[in-house]
Amino acid sequence: MLKIAYHGHSCVQITQGDQSLIIDPFLTGNPMAAVQPEEVRVQHVLLTHAHTDHIQDAAAIAKNNDATVIAIHELATYMSWQGVQTRDMNIGGRMDLGFSQLQMVPAFHSSAIIVPERKQIIYAGMPAGFLIHWDGRTILHAGDTNLYSDMKLIGERNDIDVAFLPMGDLYTMGPEDAVEAAKWLKAKQVVPVHYNTFDLIKQDGSKFEALLSSHGLSGRALKPGDSIEL
Ligand code: NI
Ligand code: MN
Repeated sequence: MLKIAYHGHSCVQITQGDQSLIIDPFLTGNPMAAVQPEEVRVQHVLLTHAHTDHIQDAAAIAKNNDATVIAIHELATYMSWQGVQTRDMNIGGRMDLGFSQLQMVPAFHSSAIIVPERKQIIYAGMPAGFLIHWDGRTILHAGDTNLYSDMKLIGERNDIDVAFLPMGDLYTMGPEDAVEAAKWLKAKQVVPVHYNTFDLIKQDGSKFEALLSSHGLSGRALKPGDSIEL
C-alpha cells in the first residue's frame, strides 16, 4: 500500500514502508505547509522545475537525508552546485529507482532561478511533470502546466490512478482546463494542487470536486496534511 501525503501547494510525498520520495518541497515560507522540512524522511527529492515555490527546501531535505535530487539536466546541474547528490534526466526518459520507476513528461511553463540581487535569471531547462510507477500503481504529478493536447497521449499510454493537477490559474491552468486535463489523462482520481497558497491563486476546492463529478470524474481536494492510500 502506498501512502500519498499532500503537504500543501505542489508538494506531494509518496511512501511505502521505509521507501519515500517527495516532489516539489516548498515548506519554508509556505503559509499552508503541513510539515517542517526537518521532519521529512526520504531517499529522493523530485523537482518539476526551478521556481522557488517548488525547490525551496530541496537542498536542505536532500542534505538532511543523504537523499538524491532528481530533475531535468540543467536543474540537476544547478542543484549539484548546491552540494547535493543528483541524478539528471530529460523529457520522455525513464529512471529506475528500484522500488519505483519514473518517467519525465512535458509541462508547458517556464523554469529559471531568479537572483534579484544580481538581476540575474539562470535558465534551468524545460519544466516537467513525473509519472511515477510504484507497486502496480501509476501516479502523475503534472508540475506547473497549462492544458496541452499530448495529455491525451499520456492518458492513452498509462493507466493513471491519481493525477495531481495544478488548478490555481494565472501561473498554470485553472479549474476548467484542469477538468479537461483529467478527462484526457483518464485519471481515476484527481487531486488539485497549486491553489490557495497565495491570494493570486485562490480557488474553491469543493467547487472543483463538484465540477469533476459533473463530468463523471472523481477527485479529492486534499487539505495540507491529508493523505490518501492506494
Ligand atoms: Ni512555476
Ligand atoms: Mn509554481
